[in-house]
Amino acid sequence: MQYEDIRAALDAIGQTQLLRFYEELSPSEQQSLLAQISATDFSCLSRFSEKDISRPAPHVSPIRTLTRGEIRKEEAQLKERGLALLREGRAAAVLLAGGMGTRLGMSGPKGTCDIGMSRPVYIFERLIDNLLINVRAAGRPVRLFIMTSEANDKATRDFFEAHAYFGYDADYIRFFVQDSAPAVDDDGKVLLETKSRIASSPNGNGGWFSSMHRAGLTDLLLAENVEYLNVFNVDNVLQNICDPLFLGAVDLRGADSGAKVVQKSSPDEKTGVMCLKDGRASVIEYYEMTEDMRHEKDEEGNYVYSFGVIGNYLFRLSSCLKALDARLPLHFAHKAVPHVDLSGRPVKADQPDGWKFEYFIFDILASLKDCLPFEIERDKEFAPVKNKEGNDSVATAQALCLKNGIEL
Ligand code: UTP
Repeated sequence: MQYEDIRAALDAIGQTQLLRFYEELSPSEQQSLLAQISATDFSCLSRFSEKDISRPAPHVSPIRTLTRGEIRKEEAQLKERGLALLREGRAAAVLLAGGMGTRLGMSGPKGTCDIGMSRPVYIFERLIDNLLINVRAAGRPVRLFIMTSEANDKATRDFFEAHAYFGYDADYIRFFVQDSAPAVDDDGKVLLETKSRIASSPNGNGGWFSSMHRAGLTDLLLAENVEYLNVFNVDNVLQNICDPLFLGAVDLRGADSGAKVVQKSSPDEKTGVMCLKDGRASVIEYYEMTEDMRHEKDEEGNYVYSFGVIGNYLFRLSSCLKALDARLPLHFAHKAVPHVDLSGRPVKADQPDGWKFEYFIFDILASLKDCLPFEIERDKEFAPVKNKEGNDSVATAQALCLKNGIEL
């Protein structure tokens, strides 16, 4: 698009301030700003006023979980079905690696974090090793899609290439960049990070499907008759990817989606929990739960909100495509956003001075028919690396790897 077209498009949405410094820029900076503007999805801006709308709280009720005891009873059947799906090429994996990893405080992509003790072992490497276990059991490669963000795309691709894709067949790996959402000030005006760059950030892990669709990858999946997408977080180094039991359970029950869950270590563990919100599968965040809810028990004495999500979901492709136009809730985060002011001076506030927009993956569940929560053994499949120190850090993940006989 040319300057005039872009100016007209920005005028229509009241955002011409993005071209305020245009005349001062070099030709290449001008081109890069115009390219960024045309690639940005500004549709979330029309929903900015939703941040002030207080909606009635949804009715929250417990959701039925397929427990480990139940899974054990049908293990052979589930495994057989799951392996058959893998052998027929009906499942693919989607790695969510577009996050900023702020808590871990790394400068590069989170997956490049080295958790090794006597040799380098990268998070990406651990994930590939885990996926390869199920690929080998099936005897056939699985397509792996890696979602990056504008900020970490090149570094992620280069890292995989430099490490020969950790032994995975590169023909089966596809990278795609997730969509970005612009950051705005309190008046809903998009901020400039520099005179020639919009302030923007990845649009949340709920953006995975629309980004994948926009990248043309759903056509590839349809052409290859892929039915299930196992979508997983980058930060769990014990992530069991394309687990035949999970695939088998979701498929045999005819569910639209599934979510791996773990028994919370205590009612006060700060994790999101599977539930029904107004009768639809969803996740309730720790801070949304009342003290009573956290301690509510059923007749058998079990906590009813006790299964936490781990960032490992299974989605039926056809159902996601049908739900593509469903309006996902938009989440607004009030944050300090580095930007330039009206005179072009950099501003780095200590206090929130801008807004970021995000979609959450678990909101997609509510737009589908149903979701099967599937309990896993915590110590075998859940070793998150979220923080620099303490809980869910490299040290806790290392200990769990060692416990599972994984040499680091
Ligand atoms: P987190 O919520 O843990 O976010 O993401 P994060 O960015 O990794 O870390 P913090 O909160 O900044 O410390 C859960 C998963 O969702 C992915 C992350 O890469 C991780 O696998 N994610 C998150 C995306 O792919 N895109 C996003 O926009 C946000």
